[in-house]
Amino acid sequence: MTNAAFWDKLAPRYAAQPIDDVPAYEETIAVTAAYLSPEDRILEIGCGTGGTAQTLAQTAREVVATDVSQGMISIAQSKLTADTSNVSFKVASSDEILDEAPFQAICAFNILHLVDDPKTTIAALSRQVDEGGLIISKTPCMGEGAFFMPAIIWVMRQFGKAPFVHVMTGDQLEAMFHKAGFEILERRKFGSGKMNPFIVARKAS
Ligand SMILES: C[S@@+](CC[C@H](N)C(=O)[O-])C[C@H]1O[C@@H](n2cnc3c(N)ncnc32)[C@H](O)[C@@H]1O
Repeated sequence: MTNAAFWDKLAPRYAAQPIDDVPAYEETIAVTAAYLSPEDRILEIGCGTGGTAQTLAQTAREVVATDVSQGMISIAQSKLTADTSNVSFKVASSDEILDEAPFQAICAFNILHLVDDPKTTIAALSRQVDEGGLIISKTPCMGEGAFFMPAIIWVMRQFGKAPFVHVMTGDQLEAMFHKAGFEILERRKFGSGKMNPFIVARKAS
């Protein structure tokens, strides 16, 4: 099964699933929104069914939200209303350079561990963000979890029950941002997500 096919199949269930830790999610959104200005054009990669893009659109001029899965994007588009006319959803891989670039900020929530190579993805995002612009991410870093987690994911993957997952630590992810020419403005964790560092990285100007 391809990566996109895996997420297409999961999309209806993903849309119906309640948010795991609502206070942590709300805090993540509030801290992210505080970094945005009403004039900003934002890209969100791996947007899933689009709830975060619609919320962030209240504090930005425009949000372009992409996902590799047509299933996810179709659900996201079905939720658009007259109040969210500054949001557009489109099918695109995280590494694609979009015609809509450049952006003032790029959001990447629960996605950088799922791409083939986070370094390649960060390089692609770097090409699409303004100098001094931000990449705001939250990433499950399995390298900080129990040592047997990667093995469990590998087994689940053989049965089509898990996607490809890149195993890394928060320090390794932070180093990738540094190497790509970003400085780290903030790194923290919300709620019980001990393996999920929230990292705000600014491109050198
Ligand atoms: C765990 S979900 C996260 C969705 C949303 N960002 C959230 O935090 O709820 C991961 C999303 O990334 C998408 N995805 C996986 N690999 C991708 C890739 N290489 N490029 C773009 N999107 C991808 C999946 O289709 C899925 O919607």
